Amino acid sequence: MGEGRWSALEALGAERKNASLRQIFADDPQRFERFSARTDDLLLDYSKTAVTADVLAGLLGLAEARGVPGQRDAMFAGAAINRSENRAVLHTALRAGPEAVITVKGIDVMPLVRATQARLETFAEGVRSGSIAAADGGRFTDIVNIGIGGSDLGPVMVTLALAPYHDGPRAHFVSNVDGAHLTDVLKTLDPKRTLFIVASKTFTTIETMTNAQSARRWLVAALGEAAVGAHFAAVSTALDKVAAFGIAAERTFGFWDWVGGRYSVWSAVGLPVMIAIGAKRFQEFLAGARAMDTHFRTAPLEKNLPVLFGLIGVWHRNFCGFPARALLPYDQRLARLPAYVQQLDMESNGKHVAADGGPLPADLKTGPLVWGEPGTNGQHAFYQLLHQGRDVIPAEFLIAAEGHEPELAEHHALLVANCLAQSEALAKGRTVAEATAQLQKAGLPPEEVARLAPYKSFPGNRPSVTIAYRKLDPFTLGRLIALYEHRVFVEAAIWGINAFDQWGVELGKELATALLPAVKAEPDAVADPLTRGLLGALRKL
Ligand code: F6P
Repeated sequence: MGEGRWSALEALGAERKNASLRQIFADDPQRFERFSARTDDLLLDYSKTAVTADVLAGLLGLAEARGVPGQRDAMFAGAAINRSENRAVLHTALRAGPEAVITVKGIDVMPLVRATQARLETFAEGVRSGSIAAADGGRFTDIVNIGIGGSDLGPVMVTLALAPYHDGPRAHFVSNVDGAHLTDVLKTLDPKRTLFIVASKTFTTIETMTNAQSARRWLVAALGEAAVGAHFAAVSTALDKVAAFGIAAERTFGFWDWVGGRYSVWSAVGLPVMIAIGAKRFQEFLAGARAMDTHFRTAPLEKNLPVLFGLIGVWHRNFCGFPARALLPYDQRLARLPAYVQQLDMESNGKHVAADGGPLPADLKTGPLVWGEPGTNGQHAFYQLLHQGRDVIPAEFLIAAEGHEPELAEHHALLVANCLAQSEALAKGRTVAEATAQLQKAGLPPEEVARLAPYKSFPGNRPSVTIAYRKLDPFTLGRLIALYEHRVFVEAAIWGINAFDQWGVELGKELATALLPAVKAEPDAVADPLTRGLLGALRKL
């Protein structure tokens, strides 16, 4: 479907991927207005890419030809689009409005969603007020979320992002099975004042189960077995396994197999966030995601932010051949957004078979490498490669119009200036002639000018997208995350892959389980020569 369009876009990509962005702007004074889109105060600026009217028309045609609108509607309607696992994909139901009716296999799931949300709110507000108390009747001052992957990154990222709204107990997160993680968190805490939330969709993940058991022992050693009931809560789809762990039903919050782990921050997995910022703010966060869902469902494709964002991703990956993208939030509180989007994007779209299990075309590239750090820090670390390295890596900048620190307005002005300067520098570059002129103006002798000019030249024509918003509040954060979720969806729909399974994580887990006895005891028990040498050496270091 859309093969003709695909080849036409390949031809455009071959011709345009190194197009002069200076020239593109010079040719079209309205370029910013024509190649940016917004919904309310959320702006997607893709003018600093080589996308021109013909490219955009081709990409929008491709989205139609690949059935993106129909695939989107099937997801929202609860169809079993996660075909390998025969599951619906309904993280959107978790933020749907009060009137929504969404059926899975003929059953409206919304009453269950609302009932669970009500229980979560009662629990979160109880912990915040102290009415849900520790074993000694005192207040919880600290909560520790034990989970990994989707049961960790969402709450970690959102809690940090919404720090200005954090008025509940302190929140801590333990994910890594490395004992250092648990140890370093626990050493700051008083068991009498600490509530643990064990978050695991499957309640089998070895890292989480190991950390949860160790945390339980720490608590029991200090307060005795009887305190476990008051100091532990759980979030999972596997209620039987939670019960077997010893966490009471009234402290257990469920979700459903139609919520993927990396899409689960809207569910009970968001409990630490709700305890940190309160139920009302959490509702604003959900409302933001709902606003983006409505926009994604109803805006025409050419004005639809997730569709445009996805199409630009496809343009860069498939038609320009760029292997990666850098996520650069100029917003310190989004420091963990790159890690969060890494899971969302790479676990969803790092795929090599088609959604129906058949082969993908051999030369079809799917998800790119996603990485990043907040600006301005990254500027002093790895931007050298973005500006002068041999690979072109499209950048994605995020910037708020307004910070949360009006008393530090100078800081925000510097942040904005740096963000805008970087996208301008990447796009414009600096020619040798310009570098020469600058050095001459600085009064350097001619031989120094000639020597230094090549070092000080930049190729330019490095594309970037900027996402701008008024202020990072719960509503906007909800919109931003949903924007990224739907962008991943659009790309997967075009590539014809299933964004909602993750079989690629299994092999490593199986091998680790098989290796564990040998690591603990006898290296010769390892049959595989790929590992035997290294394990033996490790034991002797
Ligand atoms: O191993 C990958 C994965 O299954 C992720 O998809 C998931 O978010 C994470 O592990 C944690 O899984 P669980 O919530 O079941 O512990």
